[in-house]
Amino acid sequence: MSVGTDPHPISDTGAVESFCDTGPDEVSDRLLRSAARSSRNAVVEIDWNAPLDPTKYGCSPEWSTLFGTAYWNEMTEEQRISLTRHEFASIMSIGIWFEMMLQELVFRDQYLADYHRPEFQFAMTEVADECRHSLMFALATKKMVGTCYQPHPRLGRFAKLFKSTARNEVAYAGILVAEEILDVFQRGCMRDERVLPFIRTVNEIHVLEESRHMRFAREEVRQRMQGVGWLRRQWSALRRHRVVVHRVEPCATSRLRRRGPGLPPGCRRDACESSFPIDGAQRLRSPDAIS
Ligand SMILES: [Fe+2]
Ligand SMILES: [Fe+2]
Repeated sequence: MSVGTDPHPISDTGAVESFCDTGPDEVSDRLLRSAARSSRNAVVEIDWNAPLDPTKYGCSPEWSTLFGTAYWNEMTEEQRISLTRHEFASIMSIGIWFEMMLQELVFRDQYLADYHRPEFQFAMTEVADECRHSLMFALATKKMVGTCYQPHPRLGRFAKLFKSTARNEVAYAGILVAEEILDVFQRGCMRDERVLPFIRTVNEIHVLEESRHMRFAREEVRQRMQGVGWLRRQWSALRRHRVVVHRVEPCATSRLRRRGPGLPPGCRRDACESSFPIDGAQRLRSPDAIS
């Protein structure tokens, strides 16, 4: 099926609507048309030289690792704003790291594909999106805090192994894990007027474009699980589950507890007792959530 022949309607906003599963080419065809209508480029859309409003947060304060703790109540408003900016910069930096892995997984999967198929063409569209997103996150973190956060070296080594060996449903489920985590954080604050306007735009762009990526990844997982035997199904579920529980979840939560602009050691204990950032990650803990 070629681009433009899909009889299904697409909303005026370019958002991806829900359809029954129909196969990677049919889903990709719809997604390609959506991408052609609504892809955005933050490099030219955002005024990167505009001054920062000192009263605006980096993310909704409810997402802060310290929100609701005794230490949060003792902090000045200036400290709270600074903390949320660093926490969200850390999340965006992790997003860059994830996106580089996703691109390698997609490239390896499509290396010898049929280049005329919508599935291949959307895969390349996704890689192009991720390149723009990584540049957007890099510019945003530099502008907001000036700190370049990176994953722990041990985590980086584990991820090298994963991105070099993951294939088929494991690769695409791994992509879903990464995309769902950012989606949870960004949907929560993209319409929050307490957040820096340019960060809200970053969130909006990413949520919109990632909705296509997640639809594509879900279809790839669904298609590649068809006819799969019990043993491979269990092994795939185990690998996905290990990535979330032992690698991705600590990356998205524990690391944020250690980071912060001049916070004393005691605040880490308070952060561990705060449930707000954990709730989003808990949603991803079950293997059923990504299958
Ligand atoms: Fe992305
Ligand atoms: Fe993505």
